[in-house]
Amino acid sequence: MEVVICDSEAEVGDLAAAKVARVVRDVGPDAVIGVATGSSPLPLYATLAEMANRGEVDLERVSAFALDEYVGLPVGHPQSYAAVIDATVTQPLGLDPARVYVPDGSADNIEAAATHFENTIRRAGGIDIQILGVGANGHIGFNEPTSSLASRTRIKTLTERTRHDNARFFGSLDDVPTHCLTQGLGTIMDAGEVLLVATGSGKAAAIAALVEGPITAMCPGSVLQLHPKATVIIDHDAAADLQLASYYRTTYAQKPGWQRYRADL
Ligand code: F6R
Repeated sequence: MEVVICDSEAEVGDLAAAKVARVVRDVGPDAVIGVATGSSPLPLYATLAEMANRGEVDLERVSAFALDEYVGLPVGHPQSYAAVIDATVTQPLGLDPARVYVPDGSADNIEAAATHFENTIRRAGGIDIQILGVGANGHIGFNEPTSSLASRTRIKTLTERTRHDNARFFGSLDDVPTHCLTQGLGTIMDAGEVLLVATGSGKAAAIAALVEGPITAMCPGSVLQLHPKATVIIDHDAAADLQLASYYRTTYAQKPGWQRYRADL
């Protein structure tokens, strides 16, 4: 696992965007990216949109798969992840909406919707790079603690912690759905590369557990330690509880220029 510690949230976004752009260039114009919602990847999407506008990366034929969706929100609800992905990813990056896929949380048959989503990823040839945030409780996607490390896309019950954390996007806690459809940990682990971004002291404990703790379903993100191409890009505050922070800083500082994501910008 590569851990990169940045000076600011903006730098996290810049380096992460450069990393995604590099994968898209390497894979080619039909690359498939996995996209997260939430606050963490917003600077990444903003920088990637600027790069696309400047012609530094071609996203026209790129496909995107969302990590998750609430269950039970009406179609078109502004906090549905379909709407959020459209506003924060599809439109700004200029993606073709026909190539952007979000699990169908309003389906009558949720199990069939989950299977359909897995099959659609497979038909697209798999996800080349999966962008992730992390919950304060260590969840990735909405794989809450005790999720099977081999899980596939399925319905999950959100923890009260996650519902509280996400209440800021809704009028009140009561408006936050109780269930979601989420890519499983096994689904996420199938991606060619995984890229997790996190900022702020509220993520410090989760990042320490995910990067340096034991691999355990109690910290679902810790499964990323088993991924051969996992990158974690964080700011100082999110890095505060890492035991080997100075080692990660030295390692990145000593990289040759061609290996640094910054060189792509
Ligand atoms: C979002 C997702 C979640 C978030 C996590 C962090 O699609 O799957 O795992 O990445 O809850 O959210 P933020 O970035 O808002 O702190």
